[in-house]
Amino acid sequence: FPIKKPAELNWSFEGPFGTYDKAQLQRGLKVYKEVCAACHSMRLVAFRTLADLGYSEAQVKAFAAEYTVQAGPDNDGEMFERPAIPSDYFPAPFPNDAAAAAANGGAAPPDFSLIAKARAVERGFPTFVFDIFTQYAEGGPDYIHALLTGYDETPPEGMEIAEGTYYNPYFVAGKSLAMAPPLFEDMVTYDDGTPQTVDQYARDVSAFLMWAAEPHMEERKKTGFRVIVFLLLFASLVYLTKRKVWSNIA
Ligand code: HEM
Repeated sequence: FPIKKPAELNWSFEGPFGTYDKAQLQRGLKVYKEVCAACHSMRLVAFRTLADLGYSEAQVKAFAAEYTVQAGPDNDGEMFERPAIPSDYFPAPFPNDAAAAAANGGAAPPDFSLIAKARAVERGFPTFVFDIFTQYAEGGPDYIHALLTGYDETPPEGMEIAEGTYYNPYFVAGKSLAMAPPLFEDMVTYDDGTPQTVDQYARDVSAFLMWAAEPHMEERKKTGFRVIVFLLLFASLVYLTKRKVWSNIA
């Protein structure tokens, strides 16, 4: 049974000049917080970095304070809990992978910090040669979106699905996975009038996870562009210098 290829969507951050759509990232954060965070951790992402999404310092502080983190030991050697501050990282929903697996039918939900990069698809020769120039990085978000919206299909005849797992033709590591369809229409409220559909939620959370995995993408692309312009100019100068240096040799 072949694994289905995710549809290639349009993302604001694709291409050499792509940038993140901050409103979309904010919506994606909301979906992560209200839905995915019940099972998936994001332990490498600190609250302070949410300033990238267009939030003010006060908003980031207030957002962090909604979470509780483990701290300590205090003077008596005791661990204690306190409200999170911007320098803290997103707390995980389970104390460790074993507990996460036990609560999810034996499969631990993967951490989300780098998932958009970890599931980026291999495109093979010759596509990857062009991918360098188009700065292709959308394979991960395409995959996450396809996975989240790909539960509706019925398994092909003759396929056996393990108990407690859900058929999904896009899942890369088997025919079914331990995650039940997580998204339903209208489950997360958007204040900006964006449609509250599964497809839209999936797009927004995938874009948000791309940002989480590569928060400095815009900077990297800008620097890359400047480097290429510089190298082109430098190469032509070197060529002209070479012509000058060798011009009186017959
Ligand atoms: C796996 C996304 C919500 C439980 C995954 C994977 C992704 C993902 C990308 C990795 C698939 C792979 O390995 O290729 C999301 C998103 C969510 C969400 C974006 C929110 C919209 C949830 C919730 C639960 C959950 C609420 C628990 C009730 C799991 C489990 C796995 C998993 C157990 C591992 C599946 C396996 O390996 O069989 N999820 N998830 N997820 N997720 Fe979620």
